[in-house]
Amino acid sequence: MEFFLDTANVDEIKAAQAQGVMDGVTTNPTLLSREGGDWKAQASEICKIVEGPVSLEVVGATADEMIREAEALSAFGENVVIKVPMTSEGLVATKVLYKKGLKTNVTLVFSPLQALLAAKAGATYVSPFVGRLDGISHDGMELIKQIRTIFDNYDFPTKILVASIRNPLHVLDSALIGADVATIPYKVICELAKHPLTDKGLEQFNVDWEKLTK
Ligand code: G3P
Repeated sequence: MEFFLDTANVDEIKAAQAQGVMDGVTTNPTLLSREGGDWKAQASEICKIVEGPVSLEVVGATADEMIREAEALSAFGENVVIKVPMTSEGLVATKVLYKKGLKTNVTLVFSPLQALLAAKAGATYVSPFVGRLDGISHDGMELIKQIRTIFDNYDFPTKILVASIRNPLHVLDSALIGADVATIPYKVICELAKHPLTDKGLEQFNVDWEKLTK
């Protein structure tokens, strides 16, 4: 299972890299706007410091606009994955980009049939948003199970990239279901490493070491 970091913050990326737990990065317009400044410089730096895939999102409404943007975004680095919205125009763009050999991440996926359409269009990744579904009292992880079943039924190579992750349980459930990737906020990455018994055990070892060496 791959872990991507869901951020446009360079310090968070460097910290996750140092822990050896980061295989790629996903951004979106909201995450880039949170950082302020020149988004192009920010995106370019992220593509340089990350070895794995970096998702950069198009904002055009038509397939032609998305394809033009995708070509410009690709210039940021060989690791760029074009994030395309799950719309009819987005599917057209996905198909064209697939034929051009560009990688895509179809985003804002909220139903298994949307994921199936994206896979048929040649998406490299689909991004189902589990946290936003949970937020409207739908079961986000049930969507991941359904997509896993559909993709396995037909051997689609499209990777399931679980997005909109809110807590460690979302990561655990993604792993148990067999999602290919989870894109995780830095705060949740930090929570994954923590356990109260680890802290308690460490404290005891330190106390005993003091006694031993006094
Ligand atoms: O990057 C897409 C997705 O992970 C966004 O999550 O927190 O805005 O629902 P969120």
